[in-house]
Amino acid sequence: MSDRAGKPLRVALLGCGTVGAEVIRLLQEQRADFAARVGAPLEIAGIAVRRPQRRRDLDVDPALFTADAAGLVARDDIDIVVEVIGGIEPARSLILSAMSHGASVVTANKALLAEDGATLHDAADKHGVDLYFEASVAGAIPLLRPLRESLAGDTVHRVLGIVNGTTNYILTRMDETGAGFTEALDEATELGYAEADPSADIDAFDAAAKAAILAGLAFHTRVTISDVYREGIADVTAAAVSSAREMGCVVKLLAICERSADGRGVGVRVHPAMIPRSHPLAGVREAYNAVFIEAEAAGQLMFYGRGAGGAPTASAVLGDIVAVARNKVKNALGTGESAYAELEARPMGETRTRYHVSLDVADKAGVLAAVAQVFSKQDVSIQTVRQSGRGDDATLVIVTHSASDAALSATVEDLRALDIVRDVASVMRVEGEETA
Ligand code: NDP
Ligand code: HSE
Repeated sequence: MSDRAGKPLRVALLGCGTVGAEVIRLLQEQRADFAARVGAPLEIAGIAVRRPQRRRDLDVDPALFTADAAGLVARDDIDIVVEVIGGIEPARSLILSAMSHGASVVTANKALLAEDGATLHDAADKHGVDLYFEASVAGAIPLLRPLRESLAGDTVHRVLGIVNGTTNYILTRMDETGAGFTEALDEATELGYAEADPSADIDAFDAAAKAAILAGLAFHTRVTISDVYREGIADVTAAAVSSAREMGCVVKLLAICERSADGRGVGVRVHPAMIPRSHPLAGVREAYNAVFIEAEAAGQLMFYGRGAGGAPTASAVLGDIVAVARNKVKNALGTGESAYAELEARPMGETRTRYHVSLDVADKAGVLAAVAQVFSKQDVSIQTVRQSGRGDDATLVIVTHSASDAALSATVEDLRALDIVRDVASVMRVEGEETA
């Protein structure tokens, strides 16, 4: 044991909102257990918020609240700083200052890690402190530590996840009730899943940030949000959801991180996709998250649970607090960043995908041949074609075999230019095993 053992560890919180308030409540309620698990009591030394005078229903001394976050992290008696403010600034400057004053940092801030994780990791390394961020991806689900530690002896090939609860709730409602996107979004907002401005969820910025963090850990490579191809769910139509159902599929917003075939690159993307109902991710309903990992020796692994909310997210933050506190007691450091592989981020066009394309066409001779010609020109092989309706209102639904995303998107462009195609009603990628 180091000479630290038994001495209280002083924890500063930055933020006391949805997540921070639950962290404080649980830290206070389970004080004795945490002291036993860590080997030293955890004391709250200060709580920085925007509005320190605001009434909060917490069992803490009101004098601990301060608006001076910069002053709090610069104190030399703080051992651990927990950042749950969110956003890029002032969170980044506060974390950097905390590290430079010797504090280890726990954060749930996916936006910052995906934008500028490198700066934080470099600073942690330079100052000899821990940087833990389990809560930043998929809330309560223990996922980053398994990737960082348990799978450190394996080679990960692919990570496929549902990492945004709001969009999964919307897509579940569209699938199960036939609701349109706007109706399902209103429901998600009423239930408090979607933010007042839900664009971070709907336009998939939140999922893209999480995908960047997952890819970095899975492939031992620095990946930022700018490396992630991103499409949100606002254009997912009720017709596409119903067409997926007819094919035995369900539409999900997927975060996909995969090693390239030559092993030297990594492709990271977030977009809606149809997956077979038999896929383990297809049964992940409502606001739940799940992440499916394919590794060389381990094979397939699946992690499932609550990806958001005060208490579930606080569980992950507290797990990190206990881990870094134990390290402090032992005067040791946990597992740091591993980015030695330096894989190159590959553009979306190189990714091999399959497309589901729905076209409004007239039902007359030569239409199918002309459409097939466009696919053939880009060397895209068609797996199935289904036609419904007659006369002026026919719909052609085409599912392709796998091809480069560049060839598939060029095919769609050419289809749009065809006179006989009245409308390209929907285009969606299809993930999961090919059936033929
Ligand atoms: P909230 O908006 O609920 O809380 C933010 C807190 O930060 C508030 O207490 C606010 O003070 C304080 N704050 C804001 N700006 C400043 C500032 N400049 N200086 C000091 N304090 C400030 O956020 P959440 O709790 O929802 O999220 C926190 C982090 O956790 C984010 O990074 C988020 O992405 C992440 N996260 C959240 C999840 C969730 O389900 N909510 C799930 C997973 C991760 P005041 O109370 O006075 O307004
Ligand atoms: N808005 C996010 C979600 C919160 O819906 O999953 C958790 O990061």
